Amino acid sequence: MSTNIIYCYSGTGNCLDMAKNIARILGDTDIVMMRSYPAVTETRGAKRVGFVFPCFGGGAPTDVLSYARFIHIEPDTYTFAVSQSASYAGTGLAELNKIHPLNYWKAVTHQCSCIWLFPHTVMMPPMTPKQAQKRSEKLAAEIGEEIMAMVKTGKEPPRNALNAAENKGWPMIAKKKAEGFRVSDKCIGCGQCEKLCPRGNIRLENGKPVFGTNCIQCLGCLQFCPTGAISLGSITDKREHYHNPNVKAADLMEKIIHVD
Ligand SMILES: Cc1cc2nc3c(=O)[nH]c(=O)nc-3n(C[C@H](O)[C@H](O)[C@H](O)COP(=O)(O)O)c2cc1C
Repeated sequence: MSTNIIYCYSGTGNCLDMAKNIARILGDTDIVMMRSYPAVTETRGAKRVGFVFPCFGGGAPTDVLSYARFIHIEPDTYTFAVSQSASYAGTGLAELNKIHPLNYWKAVTHQCSCIWLFPHTVMMPPMTPKQAQKRSEKLAAEIGEEIMAMVKTGKEPPRNALNAAENKGWPMIAKKKAEGFRVSDKCIGCGQCEKLCPRGNIRLENGKPVFGTNCIQCLGCLQFCPTGAISLGSITDKREHYHNPNVKAADLMEKIIHVD
């Protein structure tokens, strides 16, 4: 058992990059991926247990909260969570706090990965992708130091009623939206999207991906596609694709990443 455990959900790598940067400050950390059911759910013996996840549709990705319920954390363990979003953290931290009371929490903004809605360069506060990445790394170092010192936030995460309503309807929107996935003749049939999909929603038929509607909208398939062959509405063909510059699709397929 490592001294620290970070449960991480990430669609396009921003949260995995944040988790790794925090882990580098803490040392001896297992980053347990939550894209599918986590490989470790027993945390007894760990000193610090935390979560790093994005905001999807006003709250945490639904699988984060579902899987969190199966994770056992001893009452005297220090707990923390970091939520990344393009502009607002939504209800994710507050909902997680109900499952695992959080000693420390932080909301951080990074680039928008929901490119059917906005170009990836749109974030609050406005800044270039390079600046956003630099800021995220600086914040991760500060957050890491605070978690190392086991700082307590001292108040509960906010819960905005509008975000709560948005998040309630999100699974339906994600399902409906998934009907729009298309693949162009740029597809080389590499099968990365099939392997990367956390919901098993993509299968290769005659060497080309076919999409179902069991989609959480992480958009990893589209954003990491090596030939840009996947689209979700014509707008996504026109917009520059984005994934975190330090994260590869293969990193997101790992079950546990250990950082010394
Ligand atoms: C489908 C989808 C929905 C999103 N919804 C929100 C949202 O409601 N509010 C927000 O501020 N950002 C939203 N975002 C932006 C992400 O939270 C942000 O880009 C985050 O850094 C992505 O982290 P990741 O790269 O680890 O997946 C959304 C992104 C996606 C893909």
